[in-house]
Amino acid sequence: MSTYLVDFFLLLFLFILVVLLIIYAYFQYSYCYWKSKGVPYLKPKFPLGNNELVGFEAYSYGIENVRWYQEFKKIGAKFGGAWSWATPVLLLTDPEYYKDVLVKDFRYFINRDFYHNPKFDPKNENLFVAVNEDWRQLRHKLSPIFTSAKMKMMYELVLKCSEPMMDRLRKHAKNNNAVDIREVVASFSTDVIGCVAFGLECKSFASEEAVFRKMGKEIFRSTPKSKLFLVLSRLCSDTAQKLGVNNIPEVVTQFFTEIITETIQYRQKNGIKIQDFLDLLIGLYESKENNFSFNDLIGNVILFFIAGFDTSSATMSCTLFELAKQPTIQNKVRDEIYSVLKKHQGKLTYDAFQEMTYLRQCIDETLRMYPPVQNLARFCEKPYKFKNSNLILDKGITVLISTVAVGRDPEYYPNPDLFDPERFNSANKAARNPFVYLPFGEGPRHCIGKRFGIMQSSIALINILKNYKISISPNSTRSITLKKGVFLFQSNETVYLNLEKVQ
Ligand code: HEM
Repeated sequence: MSTYLVDFFLLLFLFILVVLLIIYAYFQYSYCYWKSKGVPYLKPKFPLGNNELVGFEAYSYGIENVRWYQEFKKIGAKFGGAWSWATPVLLLTDPEYYKDVLVKDFRYFINRDFYHNPKFDPKNENLFVAVNEDWRQLRHKLSPIFTSAKMKMMYELVLKCSEPMMDRLRKHAKNNNAVDIREVVASFSTDVIGCVAFGLECKSFASEEAVFRKMGKEIFRSTPKSKLFLVLSRLCSDTAQKLGVNNIPEVVTQFFTEIITETIQYRQKNGIKIQDFLDLLIGLYESKENNFSFNDLIGNVILFFIAGFDTSSATMSCTLFELAKQPTIQNKVRDEIYSVLKKHQGKLTYDAFQEMTYLRQCIDETLRMYPPVQNLARFCEKPYKFKNSNLILDKGITVLISTVAVGRDPEYYPNPDLFDPERFNSANKAARNPFVYLPFGEGPRHCIGKRFGIMQSSIALINILKNYKISISPNSTRSITLKKGVFLFQSNETVYLNLEKVQ
């Protein structure tokens, strides 16, 4: 080997060594942050900080911070510091601080710390990722789409979407086949959101390869490329933005853009008016004073798809799982369904579903135990003094509230792993601090689709429980464990239910 080549490799080696040393020094410097602030903290490990999973999935917005929460509560701390890789994050454990951050002092915490790329991916700028004044205006424009009156308007469309699901269940019951309940309700959710947001009949039950269902899976599919994008966006979001890293795979955005464009053209050409989300969004787009662009329309339809389908299917499948384990509670829900339907001449109307208060208690209890969005995150926009403490939080630090940890905290919910809908009867609810129940978030940035999520979940549950007694199949898991490293709820196990026709 020539001496030039030896010199080159030596220099390259030295260069890589220096870069690695700089990175290591940067991490170590960052790991001093919480000590310098006088905040109790968990000891971080290079390079993951306090994330538990090894590898690209390591993430602080999943259930890993349930352990952080428990550690801080053990020492009586109302908040505590941890690190996601090299980034310091503050986890809150006191409901009074939840209220301050989410509601009272919202102006300091208006944004989520969620990666997005407005320049390279303008079609995925949506309400969830929008910041500051853009978010405020967008929320103002979209709020009228989610009122009770609009839900009532869409109710019949959603009800109709439950028919293919019931056909599928009928076949399973007839053949005595155990049902993968998560798959069934996910197909129902896809049909619902496809119908009300895209104006399409998705036919998710018609074939295993129904294209909308495929796209739903594609969004969260983990590939080497998506993992690389993920890690880049988490470690150096500025560079990721410049490199054009997107949140959502391009193939998904393109698919949805084409479908929405075709549907809009078809509706305009044929003068079709259907009272659904898409129609309301087209209304916003067409009215000049709203400043609601075509990209805004696309971005928010895609968001409704993502935000609506996984959250609602988790709610439905977990409720059914818990009810299958507890026949007494299940019978009580069924009795309520029958008695309310009788009052409404057997018709499942919008008013009838709203009268089913015990069913609603069951849904609330499910969301306590299995909140589909496992963390609320807020980005500190300007230095903020936490009351009754010495902590002045710096701009740029993310504050986390673990919806899972608070829902399973025995201080607020004795025997927290027990499914008990009575926790949500009106007396018990009134006796509890409302900020220890946060499955839909709170404050000006709470879930805009709450009513819709509850409505579609209730419709599916009522139809299933009205017709079938459900039990856990002998081959199924009897307990669900939560997957680590994911932002939205996923269970590690598959639940299979047996169905027995109600006579
Ligand atoms: C049971 C079902 C659902 C649950 C548990 C749920 C939960 C949540 C949570 C926890 C947040 C964050 C709130 C915060 O940071 O304070 C959120 C935000 C959001 N959700 Fe939902 N969601 C559900 C259904 C839906 C549906 C059906 C839609 C739309 C069709 C939707 C659209 C949104 C949007 C757009 C946001 C962002 C709001 C903003 O930043 O202003 N969600 N959801």
